[in-house]
Amino acid sequence: MQAEVLPRSVTEARVLSVRHWTDTLFALRISRPSSLRFRSGEFVMLGLMVDGRPLLRAYSIASPAWDDGLDFYSIKVDGGPLTSRLQHVRTGDRLLLGHKPTGTLVLDGLRPGRRLYLLATGTGIAPFASLLREPEIYEKFDELVLTHTCRYVEQLGYGEELVAGLAEDPLVGDIAPARVTYYPTVTRAPFARRGRITNLIETGALFRDLGVPPLDAADDRAMICGSMAMIADTRALLEGAGLIEGSSSTPGDFVVEKAFAG
Ligand code: A2P
Repeated sequence: MQAEVLPRSVTEARVLSVRHWTDTLFALRISRPSSLRFRSGEFVMLGLMVDGRPLLRAYSIASPAWDDGLDFYSIKVDGGPLTSRLQHVRTGDRLLLGHKPTGTLVLDGLRPGRRLYLLATGTGIAPFASLLREPEIYEKFDELVLTHTCRYVEQLGYGEELVAGLAEDPLVGDIAPARVTYYPTVTRAPFARRGRITNLIETGALFRDLGVPPLDAADDRAMICGSMAMIADTRALLEGAGLIEGSSSTPGDFVVEKAFAG
């Protein structure tokens, strides 16, 4: 019998657990190769062998850099080449993982500030699940605001549990609950807070609800993760308020990354 040849750009990891959050959303926890290094907030290639060939997509790592395992959060795309298969993996299955995590949603991309807004839609919350469990974020910022906008209420479950779980976190449990404000909104069903985050920023409702001043480049920093359209619209609002986009090499007031569809 011939062993399957693994492409050089990938390594193998085992599925540790799978959780189906809704009929369109699921989470995976996989083993972490000892050689895999990354900064909280980065993404990595993840996938499967399909018909003898590697099929991988970029996925934000949803666990912090200090964690032993790797968490991911994904949509299930009907007929999607990867997610239609990935959603069926079980504990013990083998997955393919890229060697080199990378990305722009990292703390190095931001100048110090007082308040950090983490602005997510859909599965764009994944990198913030990593960052909110990263002790450095609490050293760099006094206040963290996690906004999560989804079409339907049941799609908020992952974020609700993330935020509730911060109190039990071994590294940030003592500090996070008092410093993190969770701001969920829903666009297509009844909910306490309705509307796109862009609308809530534009009307000032976000700042009134939080009891904070409007965006100000002196104090405020932001990270954005969502669809291309969401990023474009949110970036325009931040730039309109005088915030400047940054990167690891030139830190600024905000950084962006598209939420990857599997
Ligand atoms: P809406 O229901 O009004 O389209 P999606 O699943 O399409 O990525 O959307 C996830 C969430 O992001 C939805 O609540 C959606 O609102 C919202 N959204 C979509 N496009 C934008 C945008 N350009 N700016 C802000 N929010 C957006």
